Amino acid sequence: TAAEKGGFRSFMEKEIHDQPKAVADTLLGRMDVSGRLVLDELRIDESVLRAVDKIVVVACGTAAYAGHVAKYAIEHWCRIPVEVELAHEFRYRDPVVNERTLVVAVSQSGETMDTLMAVRHASEQGATTLAIVNTHGSTIPRESDAVLYTHAGPEIAVASTKAFLSQITAAYLLGLYLAQLRGNKFPDEIAATLADLREMPGKIQQVLDRAERVREVARWMADSPAVLFLGRHVGFPVALEGALKLKELAYIHAEGFAAGELKHGPIALIEPGQPVFVIVPSPRGRDSLHSKVVSNIQEIRARGARTLVVAEDGDEAVVPYADEVFRVPQTSTLLAPLLTVVPLQIFASELANAKGLDVDQPRNLAKSVTVE
Ligand code: G6P
Repeated sequence: TAAEKGGFRSFMEKEIHDQPKAVADTLLGRMDVSGRLVLDELRIDESVLRAVDKIVVVACGTAAYAGHVAKYAIEHWCRIPVEVELAHEFRYRDPVVNERTLVVAVSQSGETMDTLMAVRHASEQGATTLAIVNTHGSTIPRESDAVLYTHAGPEIAVASTKAFLSQITAAYLLGLYLAQLRGNKFPDEIAATLADLREMPGKIQQVLDRAERVREVARWMADSPAVLFLGRHVGFPVALEGALKLKELAYIHAEGFAAGELKHGPIALIEPGQPVFVIVPSPRGRDSLHSKVVSNIQEIRARGARTLVVAEDGDEAVVPYADEVFRVPQTSTLLAPLLTVVPLQIFASELANAKGLDVDQPRNLAKSVTVE
């Protein structure tokens, strides 16, 4: 009903606007006053977590992209190798998993059959299984050794938004906790990241407050036949998620690419007028990543692409090559997906709405897929 949608046109729009709270609630009670993480709820022996020598994230759809973000963060903070695998592929390829493997299942519903089967397979191989799940009492956490709940609240729209941000948040908490437990290599960076994480709900709110331009552009672009998304580092899974949202909601052919891959193929797709979103890493972050992505924007613009750029406040280097710049507040490199994905969610939702489509119930999709 209209009241349940809180004045928004769809549950999805409401859920996009619930994201500051979803992230805040997922952080709540998991840090003590001194800023240390407290995850006693995991109830896994600390010696087991200290002995872990590999992490495998298994998930489907949007949850798998949260897993991609987790890989960048956990490998950097903990120096533990992290693989991310679609749950349905994992199980059938005879994966190398043993007592020292931590298998992390990410799922909003906790009922996705493919993901559940991956958890069962991992348990049979002796791995420790940990569920990052939104739905209390669902099957995946019941069958896992441990659970870290995301506190996004019920998600009604088929396309996942607030659950995605909560999954990424929970994955950060897990990574930072493992770093803390295992004697982390970058104590200052970990402390600074925790402080940054506490500021994310407010920053997500700022992105929402500035979203009118995204909506305008989405309405103009309602009859685009195809949209491309480019990102690098943690911007890559954001690009994949932006494309998935557009496929799911607006039935537009959309692809996400790693920006570095552009010259190895996708650049052939660029023709005059082709819209391309580019998720730009912070100019304050790693080495030369920022300038490489700016060069990519230049390259596609020179071939006539219409460039829709998601960039940090104060990043002026993108301006000469951008047809549109959607701004997000500054944050540390690894946390940026919590901000940069939001304009892409709004874009897909608004564009689908402009096409007169059912944003909450896209054709052919189910909220939770309980068959293999
Ligand atoms: C379905 C939904 C997707 C979701 C995926 C995983 O395909 O349509 O939006 O990302 O399942 O769902 P889960 O509940 O496991 O996160």
